[in-house]
Amino acid sequence: MNTVTVDLTPSYPVVIGAEIPIGEVLAAHVSPGPCVIVTDSNVGPLHLADACGSLESAGWEVLDNLQFIAGEESKSLKVYSELLGRVARTGLGRDGTIFALGGGVVGDLVGFVAASYMRGVRLVMLPTTLLSMVDSSVGGKVGLDLPEGKNLVGAFHQPEAVVADIARLETLPEREISNGLAELVKMGLLAGGEYFRDLDAISAARSGDSGPLVKLIEHAVRYKASVVERDEREGGLRSVLNYGHTIGHGLEAASGYRLSHGEAISLGMVCAAKIGAKHTGFDLMERQRELLLACGLPVTQTGFDAGAVLAAMSRDKKRAAEDGARMHRFVLLEEIGRPVWGVSVSEPEVIEALETLKGAG
Ligand SMILES: NC(=O)c1ccc[n+]([C@@H]2O[C@H](COP(=O)([O-])OP(=O)(O)OC[C@H]3O[C@@H](n4cnc5c(N)ncnc54)[C@H](O)[C@@H]3O)[C@@H](O)[C@H]2O)c1
Ligand SMILES: [Zn+2]
Repeated sequence: MNTVTVDLTPSYPVVIGAEIPIGEVLAAHVSPGPCVIVTDSNVGPLHLADACGSLESAGWEVLDNLQFIAGEESKSLKVYSELLGRVARTGLGRDGTIFALGGGVVGDLVGFVAASYMRGVRLVMLPTTLLSMVDSSVGGKVGLDLPEGKNLVGAFHQPEAVVADIARLETLPEREISNGLAELVKMGLLAGGEYFRDLDAISAARSGDSGPLVKLIEHAVRYKASVVERDEREGGLRSVLNYGHTIGHGLEAASGYRLSHGEAISLGMVCAAKIGAKHTGFDLMERQRELLLACGLPVTQTGFDAGAVLAAMSRDKKRAAEDGARMHRFVLLEEIGRPVWGVSVSEPEVIEALETLKGAG
């Protein structure tokens, strides 16, 4: 079992390991008391009994377990308001704790419930997807979607602790593992050093070797924590985490979300590397392709409409209130471990990079 400390005020631990006794490891960080566990309809039947039992045996008083229907559609005002009502009816007070057991959807939505119920109660994240272990449960961003766009409502609410138990990943579909690996590779490229070298162990980690998997999750959490510590409220540096996301989001939206987020950002990273080679002279294409393929992610794509991708990118951009009609802001790599951000890239360059996806590039 490994622990990474996220050094914000107050600081909090991210505990990573296999078969973690949640109640026991939390004892050093949060005192047991009244709590509510919230999960989704996929995770509940698989992991709730175990989590609940572990907390109760460590002295927690579980007032109730709440479940909502799994899926991004539940990150809505409707499900949010239903959950607030259900939490209120458990009688949870200001001194209570809410446990978010699930993937990024549970973490974001339930985190926002914890941030706003009684002006904020304690939150503990129990991530059950690889993506939520390496990304969404660290950094304190919580919130929900509006019909007008994703993640338009939210808050910053740091958890008391995060417990990432890789045993939970045994029930996670392969495609979801690849989703998490996309973010894990992205951060390894941004971080460089030992983290980048350890990406060689991706195949071993994918085939269920727990040592390399724990190590890679630890690297990712450490890296994300270091970025968030330096830029908690997204003033600048935190935007490096958008590597691969500028075109990736465009592809994801233009596919009508048939591409998963991880698949889309894998393709987005291929495009960013192509653009980066031109802007910075650093050619990372081949190394990055090998890594993405090892994750089971796509590096080529046909049958998309470049115009629709650009249109989706422009909608994103409008939200970021950037000017320069035909320019897009990119995170590029000058070298492994040396990202630059806010680089202006023109639409013809974006189209040229998208073309790369259609061939071997
Ligand atoms: N807050 C942040 O900083 C941040 C960062 C990145 C992503 N996000 C958000 O995270 C969300 C995506 O998270 P995600 O990829 O974890 O998706 P998710 O929570 O929807 O989980 C993916 C699927 O796997 C199921 N599942 C979860 N754990 C399981 C398990 N152990 N076994 C079997 N099935 C399981 C879920 O029910 C769901 O069907 C998006 O809403 C995104 O906006 C937030
Ligand atoms: Zn992402």
